[in-house]
Amino acid sequence: MSTLATFRIDGARALVTGASRGIGRAVALALAEAGADLALSARTAEALKSTTEQVCGLGRVAVAVPGDLNDTAAAGAVVDQAAEALGGLDVVIHNAGILPSEPDGSPTLLPLQHLPQPAWDKVVTVNLNATAALCRHAYPHLAASQRASLVLVSSVAGVVGAPMMEAYAATKAAQISLVRSLATGWARQGIRVNALCPGWTRTDMTSFAYGNAPISDWLVAHVPLGRWATPEEIAPAALFLAAPASGYLTGQALLVDGGLATPEGGLAGTPKPPSPFVSAG
Ligand SMILES: NC(=O)c1ccc[n+]([C@@H]2O[C@H](COP(=O)([O-])OP(=O)(O)OC[C@H]3O[C@@H](n4cnc5c(N)ncnc54)[C@H](OP(=O)(O)O)[C@@H]3O)[C@@H](O)[C@H]2O)c1
Repeated sequence: MSTLATFRIDGARALVTGASRGIGRAVALALAEAGADLALSARTAEALKSTTEQVCGLGRVAVAVPGDLNDTAAAGAVVDQAAEALGGLDVVIHNAGILPSEPDGSPTLLPLQHLPQPAWDKVVTVNLNATAALCRHAYPHLAASQRASLVLVSSVAGVVGAPMMEAYAATKAAQISLVRSLATGWARQGIRVNALCPGWTRTDMTSFAYGNAPISDWLVAHVPLGRWATPEEIAPAALFLAAPASGYLTGQALLVDGGLATPEGGLAGTPKPPSPFVSAG
């Protein structure tokens, strides 16, 4: 097989969660371009319409398997429906995730000492408990596959931490820990398990930051490459982790973060603007 051919996943049956927009949509399209048939998940079928149409436009199968991951039973059902619709699963890219948010959808940026317990609980439910349910339900399907790859989309925040986003960072760190445990436990069943850790990426989740110059300038000042990523720059790493190209790679956290997590933030000694976040006691 040529090196380039190892990046193809022709005929693979893949589930992508959080596929309605942002990173998940870009990942779904990358996998479809590389030959996969897709089950696409988000809270509603309506939100998945555009991605579904785009995948079909690439000549691949696309089925919507909606489910609200705030309900862990629904997370399991999403996997079961995906496997039934595609006749099994070879690849699972679990990408859906949330920040704590206000009723209008804007993020709740509060230090832990001010974050209400229900807000913490919701982030743990969606980002971590649903991840466990999803992995549990995915196991028999992946174990039956000859080319199984499970990818959890975590975050650089799970590696370096993130003040004002402690619940988010803690659940993302837990996903990396889960990846290491599952990679070892499931290796002899032929299932590779890796985490993909994006850095600051322009999506709906981060519009509060890239749309606000003081916050955006401060964040980007800590990124050695000096800019935001696009979802399309994260997607190829997901394809790599799904494909035979990474066939000997398991238990890893792949950071696609513009260098953010390098020691000392990569730009040690470079002047940075003062933090726009008011320190709350
Ligand atoms: N953007 C970044 O800078 C960044 C950096 C590091 C890591 N990440 C991670 O990358 C992943 C994707 O982030 P993104 O920036 O693309 O986010 P996004 O634009 O906000 O998209 C989030 C996706 O998750 C789905 N989702 C949200 N809540 C859900 C729920 N309760 N049940 C089912 N699906 C739900 C959304 O679907 P609907 O709303 O349509 O239901 C949407 O498809 C997340 O895990 C995030 O933590 C992002």
